[in-house]
Amino acid sequence: MKRILVTGSTGTLGRPVAALLASLGHDVRGLSRRPGAAHQGDLATGAGLDAALDGVDSVVHCASDTRGFGRTDIAATRNLLDAAARAGNPHIVFVSIVGVDRIPYPYYRVKLDAEGLIEAYGGTILRATQFHEFVLAGARLAARLPLIPAPDVPVQPISTRDVAARLAELVDRPVPGRADDLGGPEVLHAPDLFRAYRDRIGSRRRVVPVRLPGAAFRAFRNGEHLTPAHRSGGERWSDFLGGTAVER
Ligand SMILES: NC(=O)c1ccc[n+]([C@@H]2O[C@H](COP(=O)([O-])OP(=O)(O)OC[C@H]3O[C@@H](n4cnc5c(N)ncnc54)[C@H](OP(=O)(O)O)[C@@H]3O)[C@@H](O)[C@H]2O)c1
Repeated sequence: MKRILVTGSTGTLGRPVAALLASLGHDVRGLSRRPGAAHQGDLATGAGLDAALDGVDSVVHCASDTRGFGRTDIAATRNLLDAAARAGNPHIVFVSIVGVDRIPYPYYRVKLDAEGLIEAYGGTILRATQFHEFVLAGARLAARLPLIPAPDVPVQPISTRDVAARLAELVDRPVPGRADDLGGPEVLHAPDLFRAYRDRIGSRRRVVPVRLPGAAFRAFRNGEHLTPAHRSGGERWSDFLGGTAVER
């Protein structure tokens, strides 16, 4: 049994990570800025981090300023690592994204810089492909329009439970630096994913593949965010759609 701090434990990935680690018998602390959180803390300012890290063996760092495109992520990661050093250097596993070094997208640049900090600390980095929930959020938004625009790119969506399982393995058996990338079980065309969602909600609207200008979109079109050699073997998009409360 380990004492593990999960940052971002209220987030899409952090929730299943914290739940899985607890179910495996670990003593799990979740870090959140929300008032009333068992371990309230703000990575961006460093507030609450010393108490949250006190006595922990491992940290799974899932927190990210995703809404702000990573605006505070570098300061947050530095604050976490400084606090970790004061707490006796617990092992840290950091979640990143496949292709951050190949796709010129500002949020990915931040992730890559954060990877560098984690690597210098001696932590482990797991890059994953896009979560099912992330694709679902995009499909949901697009399906509100009379024609459903879908990025004309391949995607390899993955279940957050499958990512959580790999993170739990890396907590148990840490590897230095980058672990093998982790992708979903199948590479699909994003417009097909959106069509499956449309059918699931009973809409008859047409899905329209959309191409955008720019180097980042070109890199996505080229599949730089995919890792076909590292398929999870886990939950497919169709199973996810079948099992999720997919309200409009
Ligand atoms: N979305 C994808 O498809 C995808 C794919 C591969 C990798 N990733 C990576 O996976 C990680 C998790 O993503 P996600 O989609 O689960 O994110 P999310 O749902 O947006 O959750 C973000 C989490 O970060 C916490 N957080 C943000 N700023 C914080 C701060 N200053 N102090 C403390 N906590 C803070 C939030 O907690 P509170 O608001 O409760 O404080 C929340 O729990 C990210 O690093 C992301 O880059 C995502």
